[in-house]
This record gives sequence, C-alpha cells and structure tokens, in this order.
Amino acid sequence: MTDTTQPFPRTFSTGRPLRGRVRVPGDKSISHRALMFGAVALGQTRITGLLEGEDVLATAAAMRAMGAQIERPGDGTWRVDGVGVGGLLQPDHAIDMGNSGTSTRLLMGLVGTHAITATFVGDASLSQRPMARVTEPLSLMGAGFDSSPGGRLPLILRGASLPVPITYRLPVASAQVKSAVLLAALNTRGTTTVIEPVATRDHTERMLRGFGADLDVCEENGDRAIYLTGEAELTGQDIVVPGDPSSAAFFIVAALLVPGSELTIENVGINPTRTGLVSVLRAMGGDIVEENVRDVGGEPVADLRVRHSALTGIAVDPAVAPSMIDEFPVLFVAAALAAGTTTTRGLDELRVKESDRLAVMARALERVGARVTECEDGLVIEGTGGDPLPGGGPIATHLDHRIAMALAVAGLASRGGVRIDDMRPVATSFPTFEALLEQAQAGEQS
Ligand code: S3P
Repeated sequence: MTDTTQPFPRTFSTGRPLRGRVRVPGDKSISHRALMFGAVALGQTRITGLLEGEDVLATAAAMRAMGAQIERPGDGTWRVDGVGVGGLLQPDHAIDMGNSGTSTRLLMGLVGTHAITATFVGDASLSQRPMARVTEPLSLMGAGFDSSPGGRLPLILRGASLPVPITYRLPVASAQVKSAVLLAALNTRGTTTVIEPVATRDHTERMLRGFGADLDVCEENGDRAIYLTGEAELTGQDIVVPGDPSSAAFFIVAALLVPGSELTIENVGINPTRTGLVSVLRAMGGDIVEENVRDVGGEPVADLRVRHSALTGIAVDPAVAPSMIDEFPVLFVAAALAAGTTTTRGLDELRVKESDRLAVMARALERVGARVTECEDGLVIEGTGGDPLPGGGPIATHLDHRIAMALAVAGLASRGGVRIDDMRPVATSFPTFEALLEQAQAGEQS
C-alpha cells in the first residue's frame, strides 16, 4: 500500500505518442454543486459521473455533517437525500475543507443564511487563500465571521437568522463569489441580485434552475445581472456530470506537444464559460476538433479530437482569462514549446489560487529550461519552436494539483525528463491522471 503521509515524487519523460480514446473524470465545479444543491433540495438527487476526488469528497463530508444523507451504492451513482432549503443542521465538529477553495466559499454562502455556527478549516494552501471576497457580501446579508488574520481560515461563521437580500456587484471575476451570494440567497426572503461585469462559469445558474430555483439572468448595460428570489423549495434531480474540461486540458496540451499523437478525449464539457483554452490553443495553431456535440443534463458536451500540431506564440487577450482561469499553468507549458513569444496579462487572480501560479510556474519553467519572464499580472514566454525542453527538477508543486500535472506534461515534451516533488495533490481533482496517461500512451480505447 502507498504511504500517503510521505511525498510521492515522480519523473515524467518523453515517451510514446498519445493515441486512442480516453475519458476524463467528472467536472469538479459541477460535482460540488450537484452535492450541495441535492443536500438542500427536497427528495432524492441521483448523480452519475461525480468526480470522486478529494475536493468533492470534502464537500460530501460537509453536507453529511450538516444533515444530508449521501450514499454511494455499488452502481457508482451517488444518492443525496436533502434537508430542504433552510434545513441544514449545526455541525458538531469543524468542517475540514482540505485543499478546496470551491467547497469553502460556496459552503460559506449556503451556511451563511442558516442560524447555525460552523468552523471552517483547511490545509496549508487553503489557509493562505483570501476569504474576505466572500465574507464581505455575506456580512452585508447578516452573517458574522471570526477569521484568522488577513481574512483567512481557520474561520468561524455565525449564520444570519434573518438574512437580508442584497444587490452585489462582483469586484473580482469569480464564480465562487457569485455562487456564494446566490447560495446565501436561497434561504433569504426577497430578491438578491448579483451583477457580473465579466461573465464567469455559469454552472450554478444552470443547475439551480434545474432544481427549481426562482432565478432570472438578464443582460443590463453590458453587465450580466442574476436575480434570485429566495425561499423557493428545490426538488431533487437526476444529474449527469460531464467530463471536466480543466482535466481534459492536460491531455489536450500533451497530445498537441508530443509528436505522433492523435487522441480523442470523450465526453468533455464545452460550456462556453469554460472553453477559453481551446480557443487560445486553436489560435496558436492547435488542431482540436469537436465531435458529437450534444447536451447532457443542461450542459453542452463533445468529444475532442486532438492531433500533434506546431504551435505559434500569441498575445492572449486578457478578456478570455475567466473562461480558462484554471488552465493557465498548462497553457504556459504549451507556450514554452511554441514558436515565438506568448504574452499573458490580466492574471492577478492566478496569484491567489492553490499556489501563486504566476510565481510557481515561472520558477518551474525556468527549472526545466524554458525562457520565461514574470510580470506583475502575467508571464511572457519565449518558446522553443517545438524542440523539446531540456528538463530538470525537482519541481516544487506547493500543494497545487495543477502545477504537478502541468509540469508532468512538460516532462513528456522534454529531453531529460521533469521530476515532480510530490504527485499527491493530483488526487484533489484528477485521481486517475497517471493511469489515463499510461492508457493514452499505450493507445488503448477507453
Ligand atoms: C470555480 C471557480 C474558479 C476556479 C475554481 C472552481 C468554481 O475560481 O478557479 O477551480 O467551481 O466556481 P474563482 O471563481 O475564484 O475564479
């Protein structure tokens, strides 16, 4: 058995092309929401394709601790018996959110308008991340917080017993903040309005509507306005979770970079609020084709056929950032092998993800021999024009799953291999990453 208390280093080297068909696990954002909404709906929610990664399991444990019944019978379908809107119970221990910012911020919203007190704790990475972006609007709705210095975890939340609706204009382009306010609004009498100057992923709005929430979305003076009228009952649903485009991203870039690759990634979510990476890679010359486009449970899905391609550096439009916010680490790797310069700007948010992804990626890429300049809000990368990177390591991943997987992809496109200091964080979002990579390198069918 693997000793999970010790770092698990691994070297990724040039190998066989990626061929055949693979299926990445379920979307992390949608999985969290399916469990949370199921937990506050009346009746049963059945979820197929749920991501069984550590972050989502942390959400499931939290919902159980607050009264929902959640089971996973042998058929792989998750069953959630909810408590109804306003029905969450006081947890009798601190809620451990592990590495998961999404669990923490969305749950603070959901719990913030219940008359209960909850303590949120997390790992070293999560305990560094800013929570004031959520505590501020929730305080306006009546919740109280005792946060650690800098507005961080550990944090005690005292939910509002008579919450008030607010109109809130998002100061940062964050689906987590938007969702926290909307989830707080579910148990708030009256209409809460969230105004998004820049559109972010809309899984909360799509799924809440499916559960029966009273929710409207309008375009107003170039902004997106979301109106949610609270105290409407939600009803349990059957949810099918599509494959995660943020996990597919590592396979898309790997197939583009490794000569001889032709890989189909099946059943990937192509919600337009998530597909920035595919647009940017296409603009760089990437051969990515959507096949079999269909609708799965209110979300658009396709199979993506990706062929090895010669990439050219571009200036990435900052406006595309929210639709690929988690994909920049692996885009930087693609840029390191493109011809010419790739410039990215407007990425301040990357400094407050699971790690400071601008600083950590700049150091990691330097370490493997790429030419990179770190700016305040982006990276400028001079690519090799397709020549493999020299390689190197060990890469410090700082408890950040996406740094580990992005640099693993760099290893596949390197002469000397890339050593990752610890692959354990990958289990937060993509526990089958290494097995799927081996499957694609063996050219097997999914
Ligand atoms: C997420 C939103 C994004 C993203 C995160 C998942 C979500 O965070 O980085 O991995 O599920 O709402 P922000 O909303 O903070 O940008």
